[in-house]
Formats: sequence, C-alpha cells, structure tokens
Amino acid sequence: MSLNQQIERWLVSRKKSFRPTNRPFITLAYAQSWDGSITTCKGQTVSLSCSASNQLTHQLRSLHEGILIGIETVLSDDPQLTVREWTGNNPQPIILDSRLRMPIESKLHKHPDKKCWVLTLDQSEVSENLNSLHHEVIQISAQGHDFVPLLPAMQLLREKGIKSLMVEGGAKVITEFLKLGLADAIVMTLAPKLIGGYKAVGDIEIEDISAAPHISPINYEKLGEDLIVWGDLNYSESKK
Ligand SMILES: NC(=O)c1ccc[n+]([C@@H]2O[C@H](COP(=O)([O-])OP(=O)(O)OC[C@H]3O[C@@H](n4cnc5c(N)ncnc54)[C@H](OP(=O)(O)O)[C@@H]3O)[C@@H](O)[C@H]2O)c1
Repeated sequence: MSLNQQIERWLVSRKKSFRPTNRPFITLAYAQSWDGSITTCKGQTVSLSCSASNQLTHQLRSLHEGILIGIETVLSDDPQLTVREWTGNNPQPIILDSRLRMPIESKLHKHPDKKCWVLTLDQSEVSENLNSLHHEVIQISAQGHDFVPLLPAMQLLREKGIKSLMVEGGAKVITEFLKLGLADAIVMTLAPKLIGGYKAVGDIEIEDISAAPHISPINYEKLGEDLIVWGDLNYSESKK
C-alpha cells in the first residue's frame, strides 16, 4: 500500500471512531526541518517540503471538511487552502483573526467555491467593507481572552457542520491546539534541513514530561526526500 493510501485509510478510520460531538476531529499537519523549525524566521515564507509531500498536503486537505490557519500565516504566505494537486473537495477555509487584520486583497477572498470564515472576537468592529467581501465574519465571545478562544470556536465549527478539521499552522496556532489537548492526529513532514529558525511548537505549558502529548502508534515513511511521520495524539488525563 502506498503512503498516500496508508494515511487515507488511517484518517478515515480515526474520523469514523471519533466520538465527541462538541468539536470536530482535529489533525495537525505541517512541515518542519529536522531541528523543528517551520520557517527560517517568523513571517518568512519558506518552501520546506518536496513536491510529493506538497501533494500529500493537498490530499490531506481533501480528507477534511475544514482547514484552519492563523492570521499571521495569511499575512506572510497568502495561501489559497484549496485542493489543487489531488482530486477531492476543497475544505472550508477558516482563519483565526481576533483583530480583523485579514487583507482585502487576500487570495482567500477569491476562493473558487467557498466563502472563507473569519473567526474573530465579539468586540471587533466589523466594517461594511470587510463584511461585503467574499468571506463571513464570525464573532466569538472573548471570555477574557485576547485572541479567539479555541473551545467555543471548535464547538461553533461543529455546530456549523464541520466534523473534521485540518490545522495547517502556523506555530502559534499549533501551540494553542496542543496546549489545550485539542488535536487528535498529527501528520508531520520532516524536511532534511537544519535551519535553526522559528519553531513549530512553542510553550505548551508542560511541567512534567509525563503530561506531554504523546504520539502512538507511530508511523513513518520516506516520501521523495522528506520523511513523513504520522500518528494519534494522546494526552494525560488532565488535558482530556
Ligand atoms: N512549515 C509549515 O508547514 C507552515 C505552515 C503554516 C505557517 N508557516 C509559517 O508560520 C509563520 C506564521 O506563524 P505564526 O506562529 O507567526 O502565526 P500563526 O499561527 O499563523 O497566526 C497566529 C495569530 O493568529 C491569531 N489567533 C487568533 N486566535 C488564536 C488562537 N486561539 N491561537 C493562536 N493564534 C490565534 C493571533 O493574531 P491576532 O491576535 O491578531 O488574532 C496570532 O498572533 C509564517 O512564517 C508561515 O510561513 C509554516
């Protein structure tokens, strides 16, 4: 079985056995160097993966109903978040953007078949200009946070019909999902480079190593010149 088939089979079965109804099944999927950097420095766009790994990313997108990134990734990379190098449906694009910094010239406003959902805080002022664009601003109660609180955000996505969500980055977003024990699966592309740059995972407030998110079972295979590592994320009882 090819790597693409193995990953598809695993994800389909994980999504099927996922029981919680208050949030989607969540997969973290991103590329990093061997020293754990997702880019050379914050805000820099760097292509880390080989073409076969890029294609895998598009396949993963097609296997999820939603795809989520942070506003900093929109500002630096201006991604389309569509499925172009695989056959399948485009996932619903979703942006975490507490202060509504989404640029009006963003490629996400020209999505071929979906209105991008921009999750923001209830105190953000939504200008008519922004609201009339090809996206939907969704306000979430701040609950004392200064950025979009993930638990109510995930509940809302589920209520809006998103049963599976791919989180593509960047580092702050990956870190928040891990900190809250909200990611169920991980697919990591390890590019054979050492770049000493901006790390994929920041402080997830682990005081005891036994409380660290644990990947098991582990799967790995070489794809082009990259190594793909994937598995289920398990948390200690306190994170559940
Ligand atoms: N290698 C890869 O696979 C990969 C993938 C994606 C991105 N990247 C790179 O990563 C870099 C961007 O990463 P980043 O860490 O700077 O930013 P990011 O994770 O893309 O976005 C973070 C921003 O999202 C907003 N946000 C709102 N609610 C949030 C929440 N609950 N948790 C986290 N963030 C929330 C915050 O801005 P507000 O306060 O304004 O809302 C926050 O500063 C870029 O250089 C990009 O090229 C690499």
